[in-house]
Amino acid sequence: MHTHTLLAIPLSVLFASLLSACPLFPGCDSDTFDSTETVDLTPDEYVQWQQGMMPGAPTTSAGGSTGDAMGTSGGEATSSGSSGGTTGESLTPDEVCAAVCMQSFPGANLTSCSVEELADKVVVTCNLSQACIGGRGHACVRPPQPAAGPDPAAVWLARCAHDEAASVHAFAALGRELAALGAPAKLLARIDSATHDETRHAELVSTLARSAGAEPTPPACVTLPPRDLLAIALENAVEGCVHETWAALSAAHQARHASDPAVRAVFAGIADDEARHAELAWAIDAWLREQLDAAAQATLTAARRSAARALIARLGAAADAPELLALGLPAAREAARLSAALGQQLWSAAA
Ligand SMILES: [Fe+2]
Ligand SMILES: [Fe+2]
Repeated sequence: MHTHTLLAIPLSVLFASLLSACPLFPGCDSDTFDSTETVDLTPDEYVQWQQGMMPGAPTTSAGGSTGDAMGTSGGEATSSGSSGGTTGESLTPDEVCAAVCMQSFPGANLTSCSVEELADKVVVTCNLSQACIGGRGHACVRPPQPAAGPDPAAVWLARCAHDEAASVHAFAALGRELAALGAPAKLLARIDSATHDETRHAELVSTLARSAGAEPTPPACVTLPPRDLLAIALENAVEGCVHETWAALSAAHQARHASDPAVRAVFAGIADDEARHAELAWAIDAWLREQLDAAAQATLTAARRSAARALIARLGAAADAPELLALGLPAAREAARLSAALGQQLWSAAA
């Protein structure tokens, strides 16, 4: 079991403690878990997105009470991808739409989106639902197209399978980057092991998705130019320390509360692996911090806390999708409680 000096206890123990306060399914909650958010871009920012660049801090509006929090923290969170998103290829309007929504609302499950070009701005509308954050992201992975289908649970599983497969590429790319930076062999071995875990997760969740009637979309990846250490550290702080840590806790909830024993079994295995991956993210964070000066370390901490606030705000303002409760996902109120507890005990507590 891996622990990190910043983590006073193993994450699996922290997760068990947090989940023990959860009422048993199906009594957690009965709200819905969908939300609509908008992102206003200037015409210049829209052009930058079309060119594959990710301009910093798009201004969010509407979408209920999350507007301010997401506008502040979502922008900072995007900085992790800004240095690595240039590919030299033009994005289609659908790709821009998906990229803007996923950068502005990290960790959200995008069900559909649209772009409206007005005289003085471009309005991107993002329809979000309970997130499948089945793995970590990486700048090399193209945002997936919104999933659709008659069965929300099948759609969720298909998106989850996509994210698990994407995290295979994410870990492989991260491993190459850290090897080039001279990372310790032990750390690289843990990343290699996580890559194999994600391959297994993708296969298992793909099987569940197909059984439910949905075919997962394979992830699309691009080759990135070399990134500097801070860009890699920022991405790890957001994708690993925040998103993958939340994914681990969410998977542990599914392992306990899914109605289908087969789903519980799959997510029990995933939850154990993801808790290790989350601890790996914090170990990577520690090693990368050692290479950074104090100002860069403060930037890193701010990015992690920002991404955490964005996630907590979104989950706190989200509405439920009752048809997803059978998958064991925490209902809206419970997700808000769990993420807030993680924020207090982990994301804000760590340096
Ligand atoms: Fe995974
Ligand atoms: Fe993972």
